[in-house]
Amino acid sequence: MNISVVGTGYVGLVVGACLAETGNQVVGADVDARKISGLQRNVLPIYEPGLDRLVERNQQAGRLSFTTDVAAAIAASEVAFIAVGTPPDEDGSADLRHVLAVAENIGKHMEREMVVVTKSTVPVGTAAKVSECLGRHARFPFHVVSNPEFLKEGAAVDDFMKPDRVVLGASSDHARSVMAELYAPFVRTGRPVIFMDIASAEMTKYAANAMLATRISFMNDIANLCERAGANVDQVRKGIGSDERIGSAFLFPGPGYGGSCFPKDVKALVRTARDHGTCLRILESVEAVNEDQKHRMFQKLSAAFDGMLKGIRVAVWGLAFKPNTDDMREAPALTLIDELLAGGATVAVHDPVAMEEARHRLGSTVTFADTSYAALEGADALAVVTDWNEYRHPDFSRIKATLRRPIIVDGRNLYLPERMSDLGFTYHSIGRGATA
Ligand SMILES: NC(=O)c1ccc[n+]([C@@H]2O[C@H](COP(=O)([O-])OP(=O)(O)OC[C@H]3O[C@@H](n4cnc5c(N)ncnc54)[C@H](O)[C@@H]3O)[C@@H](O)[C@H]2O)c1
Repeated sequence: MNISVVGTGYVGLVVGACLAETGNQVVGADVDARKISGLQRNVLPIYEPGLDRLVERNQQAGRLSFTTDVAAAIAASEVAFIAVGTPPDEDGSADLRHVLAVAENIGKHMEREMVVVTKSTVPVGTAAKVSECLGRHARFPFHVVSNPEFLKEGAAVDDFMKPDRVVLGASSDHARSVMAELYAPFVRTGRPVIFMDIASAEMTKYAANAMLATRISFMNDIANLCERAGANVDQVRKGIGSDERIGSAFLFPGPGYGGSCFPKDVKALVRTARDHGTCLRILESVEAVNEDQKHRMFQKLSAAFDGMLKGIRVAVWGLAFKPNTDDMREAPALTLIDELLAGGATVAVHDPVAMEEARHRLGSTVTFADTSYAALEGADALAVVTDWNEYRHPDFSRIKATLRRPIIVDGRNLYLPERMSDLGFTYHSIGRGATA
């Protein structure tokens, strides 16, 4: 099939490359000329495991190309995916400007009957607006489909290639049959393609992210209570996660969820509820708990220095909002660094892949260390914010010898409190009590 994917960010690039891999002719179109010129030379704007090889192989095979000429990409395709950003507006609602601009563009430039697929995460009711924009200009029939994306950054290619399920909101047989054909190679193992009405598909994406964010905030709440009550949240987590009704995923406490999706999607769903004259009380609390949690690491560091952070140097390990990505959107590390700097501390940072992104965001406010151990030089404490593999089994004697004081605040519970105590560290983690 001839496909255009408009927006070549985390989602559009993965979708385009994976659809090309299964034999389709795909054009990725974006208004960002720098991004496109890099992609044409197989230089990826993001770090995503396995994606570089997929892009290169499919460009070489002539199945995948990139252009800033969005109109031409649309004119040459029978299916168009809209994969542009939907950032939060001032009131928390999803800003649909980019999505609707692309819909107008598709309406203007389509040259045949088309299936128009919304991949971007959009609130319930958006498909109707997309249809309206298309209809203003279209000279051919079109079919709007809502196809929310559930990939996880860091495992995006695998998630798209082997999805747990594919959700498709469609209202015509033509759209259903085109989408079923497109996804057939990805669900050969029997994973379900779930067809539903468009509004339900739009809602499914938000409900899924809201549920995952709820689990995280729930565990962070429990972790904070564990600290006060003398329980160990890791043991509680294992104790409840082994219950099949609960399951073990997304029960890890931490420094609060970040990233480009959970914060904005929770906000947007809360807003959608308000717009419909109701309120999602659980989700409003999920958001409030997360906001508090993002300050927990700073509070622990501040307490470790009796509130006197002026002149203290802190090494921060991990800047990306989670491992295996360079995405720092809404990363908890940014909140911690802001607070440390405001408190008069200096900061040295390390991340295995997000250093370039960090340089854009943090400029000269912090020191960028080439290695995790270099970040410790002259530091009074270490804060572990992202659970990258390389931080899981560090050389503790080297850490102790390099730090000026043996203080570690671990936002991911990577180390065993008893062991840290035996090694002579003052060790703070989440929901497990401090050891000195
Ligand atoms: N990142 C994720 O993990 C993830 C997962 C599932 C769903 N989503 C959703 O997918 C959508 C895209 O997210 P992302 O992380 O890929 O965003 P992104 O910011 O990485 O990429 C968006 C791209 O769209 C381009 N763009 C904006 N306006 C355009 C226009 N008018 N024409 C052409 N290109 C345009 C931008 O230049 C950018 O390259 C969002 O709605 C997001 O919520 C994201």
